[in-house]
Amino acid sequence: MQKTSLSWKAAGLSVGVVPTMGALHEGHLSLVAAAKQQCDRVIVTIFVNPTQFNNTEDLTRYPRTEAADTALLASHAVDVIFAPAPEDVYPLGFASQVTVAGVADPLEGRFRPGHFAGVATVVAKLFGMTLPDRAYFGEKDWQQVQVIARMTADLNLNVALQICATARASDGMALSSRNARLSPADRAIAGQLHPVMRACAQDLIQGQATAQIVAKAQKALIGYGFEKIDYFTYCDEQSLVSLDHFAPNGRLLVAAWLSGVRLIDNVAV
Ligand code: PAF
Repeated sequence: MQKTSLSWKAAGLSVGVVPTMGALHEGHLSLVAAAKQQCDRVIVTIFVNPTQFNNTEDLTRYPRTEAADTALLASHAVDVIFAPAPEDVYPLGFASQVTVAGVADPLEGRFRPGHFAGVATVVAKLFGMTLPDRAYFGEKDWQQVQVIARMTADLNLNVALQICATARASDGMALSSRNARLSPADRAIAGQLHPVMRACAQDLIQGQATAQIVAKAQKALIGYGFEKIDYFTYCDEQSLVSLDHFAPNGRLLVAAWLSGVRLIDNVAV
């Protein structure tokens, strides 16, 4: 993979990478489309990274749809599908880890210990293996994007990050590979998440205190049938420090459980 990428660069071509864990949907395809528009050559990586799953059951249940993914990417004419085996990414004796402090600590960091070390390590490795000029990530995993941005800057990785808008279904539900695990009835309930967030955004803009609107939103979600809310927070979108009232660069971030499926979303406010 490195040789191919270096040969493209030697020929003066720009290289974009779209890192994925497969189970591709329209959200991934929007990243591919952005990469194809901005880069001469596009690599899509498919690797279900075991080190970012803090729960073995989640790793086992993560959807794997290699044949469909390959067909989809072929129809979008990407230049390389790079799908390394776990033993190629983590060979015997592998002993390094990238940990990011600060922005990786709250929210997902608190509820999924070790998750961001797994993400930062594999993304650093995928950058090293594919040697891209640009890398494409979705805004849906907002905190992940902040962690990768911190890591890329701190380690001088010389990759320009391109952050693309969250792809949504017609009811506003953020597209995610995990949505495939929802029954039709649960999918209808899940569709309430985005409208509840939008209503919160309006309340914040009108000056209501964060504590008050968050309590109201959590009650609404439980009323719709969500079983647990890991966090529902309004914070500064870069530092992820909580905000008690509307502020410039604020963002609502949510993680909530529905029938054993953990859904995350975020909106700028
Ligand atoms: O967002 C994802 O799909 C994964 O976290 C990533 C960035 C491909 C790393 O495994």
